[in-house]
Amino acid sequence: MMNDPRIEELLDFVRFPTVSAQKIHRTDMLACADWLVAKFRRMGLDARAASTPGFPVVVAKSLRDPNKKTVLIYGHYDVQPADPLDLWSSPPFNPIIRNGRIIGRGASDNKGQILAHIFGVEEAIKEGELPVNVVFLIEGEEEIGSAHLGTFLEAHRDELVCDAIAISDTGMAAEGYPTLSYALRGIATLEVQVKGPAMDLHSGIYGGAVANPVTAAARLVASLHDADGRVAIEGFYDTVQPMANWEREAAADSPVSDDAIAAQAGVTVLWGEAGYSAVERVGARPTAEINGFGGGYQGEGSKTVLPAEAFFKVSFRLVPDQRPDTVLALARRHFEKHCPPGVTLTIINGHGGDPFFLDPTLPQGMAAQRALEEVFGKKPALTREGGSIPILTEFQRTLRHPALLLALASPDCRAHAPDENFPIENFLMGIRLNKALLRELAKS
Ligand code: BES
Ligand code: ZN
Repeated sequence: MMNDPRIEELLDFVRFPTVSAQKIHRTDMLACADWLVAKFRRMGLDARAASTPGFPVVVAKSLRDPNKKTVLIYGHYDVQPADPLDLWSSPPFNPIIRNGRIIGRGASDNKGQILAHIFGVEEAIKEGELPVNVVFLIEGEEEIGSAHLGTFLEAHRDELVCDAIAISDTGMAAEGYPTLSYALRGIATLEVQVKGPAMDLHSGIYGGAVANPVTAAARLVASLHDADGRVAIEGFYDTVQPMANWEREAAADSPVSDDAIAAQAGVTVLWGEAGYSAVERVGARPTAEINGFGGGYQGEGSKTVLPAEAFFKVSFRLVPDQRPDTVLALARRHFEKHCPPGVTLTIINGHGGDPFFLDPTLPQGMAAQRALEEVFGKKPALTREGGSIPILTEFQRTLRHPALLLALASPDCRAHAPDENFPIENFLMGIRLNKALLRELAKS
């Protein structure tokens, strides 16, 4: 297994430190895009790294046979920052194999998953039976909000025309369990900067007479939720669609229990909106989450300072029919209304993406379910997932076809965290799944 050239290629792919959020990695990003182009050309596809105002989009196409359906396969070659580095048991961009898993940043999200699709197509070509036309679209900005991909889709709509879109960038409901995710949450992000005195002050000389920006930031952060775990922003739930009965049944049948979620997360007690299971809270309910908070003295020992400023970063996960712009406007109003006296706020909106929802019983969805059942030998779980892939609704709008989310990552893949990993078994299953999917989509 160790000498399997497919695994060697995955290790090579993971070795590129393609952190899109950090400017220092620009040349690594370009080199990785070129590596993908070379791979596609060796497979006989027409491939290029198309430049955008950000990082290149890799496009690779088989010859278009007008008698065949066309499947677009989407993925991303960028990864999240590897920090905190000291918590990795091996270097994040020098992947190793341990207990049948490849450990490295991007192994699961998304390099292992997209490479499984690439090898599926390569094998089908070698076996002389590529049943559909394929177009690969692999971007380098997914982890920073896909800011330039929407414009790229519009401009290249004609060459991207397809009958279905296949994506593996989600997680299995349970280890080795076939999973079709029919919904993902959307996202909206912002940062709040809280400014107080003109400079850091002596907390004895001024404390009690001047508002402390860190305290003000903490009050604002605390104002985001009520005692039932609901988001306390006025109007936040106004457009939220309730779960249908069949969805609540599917969630109750989910192979993943609340206890399993607690164990994976390393907590003894779960938390969240009253009235919903953890599976429902994560997949079907919107949230407000603090991703970063800072201000004041962070060094060793104590320092009696009244800091001049503080900040916090928030991301909201959204469900149908919430819209990022509307939620950001409601949040801005909320923070302005709850701003304690003595400080001023600067609110900076970040990236956003709409929530995604697909009826899994559409013909393409049924084809995906058949392929999953064929390869894994059991009926797939239908899940709503909490993560976001911001471009999905753009696909629906521009290419007019729904995206099929066939999970290959395992529940404990540690995406975005130290020791991210991808089981070799999932990689090999993914290759077989791609071939089955293309065969089923050809018939659908
Ligand atoms: N692969 C994930 C999306 C995902 C994760 C879907 C888990 C379902 C379950 C993707 O690479 C990702 O992390 N997206 C970001 C998007 C954001 C930075 C705009 C996310 O969800 O945080
Ligand atoms: Zn990710």
